[in-house]
Amino acid sequence: MRSLIFAASVLLFSVTSAQAGSLPVVKDPVAKTECSDCHMAYPPILLPQASWEKIMGNLSDHFGDDASLDDATVKVLTEYFVKNSNDVVLAKNEKIFAEMKAQKLKEGKRVKYLRPPGILRTAKKWSSKFKPERIQDLPRFKSKHSFSQRCVPVIESVMKRAKIQTMAMCSDCHGLMPTTGASAVVFPYVEALPVAERQAFFSAEELKCLDE
Ligand code: HEC
Ligand code: HEC
Repeated sequence: MRSLIFAASVLLFSVTSAQAGSLPVVKDPVAKTECSDCHMAYPPILLPQASWEKIMGNLSDHFGDDASLDDATVKVLTEYFVKNSNDVVLAKNEKIFAEMKAQKLKEGKRVKYLRPPGILRTAKKWSSKFKPERIQDLPRFKSKHSFSQRCVPVIESVMKRAKIQTMAMCSDCHGLMPTTGASAVVFPYVEALPVAERQAFFSAEELKCLDE
């Protein structure tokens, strides 16, 4: 485990220099089990309530797959995703933050530099007027994963060699995301290679494109 973490940290610095943000991970044990067979269990904060309701209401035709679950499980999971969805978390924490400010003002303190809670900042970043069924269709996702024309084929080649089927496979590129929520770019496939192969895996050009 220690050596794995060490390997991850080496790659982490070579691949990404950007400050990696972090997302709240899925904590619900049912969601963790039932929604991580085919892709990582996506953090509920990434999509609004309406999106989760659409997804959970149509599991038998789930992006071409049958992801059906029994009614009781669907009910519990829908409640979990809705409660932690983007707009619900946003509204709840905006209220908490407003109350925090009001309290400070009452105590005669300044509120201009009061920092919103991290969860509120994350919810704001991912908030969108669109209610897509795909995280990939969110403007924020697109802006974080749009590569220059020169880099598109380069990234495609990396994905092919690192056995990453589609952009929906977040944890194939963000290896720490399911456990810590960190969005640092860490490729588990590359991490698992023998040291020499791992070190030679990315060309300088590829590293540059990944860091774009
Ligand atoms: C039987 C396999 C399977 C299971 C189980 C499954 N999914 Fe999926 N899911 C898929 C496939 C396939 C895609 C499309 C992936 C792609 O485009 O590469 C997908 C895509 C998604 C997407 C869109 C991701 C994106 O932005 O492209 C969401 C959201 C999602 N699933 C949520 C869930 C939830 C919630 C559960 C648990 C209730 C779940 N999935 C369980 C197969 C599954
Ligand atoms: C093919 C690899 C790949 C896949 C798959 C992928 N990403 Fe990324 N992601 C990247 C790269 C590269 C960056 C840009 C990193 C940089 O600029 O340093 C990035 C950036 C991000 C960031 C911004 C990091 C920050 O804090 O600025 C987030 C958040 C993110 N991805 C989430 C996701 C989610 C959620 C999914 C799945 C729905 C996903 N990514 C799928 C490669 C990938």
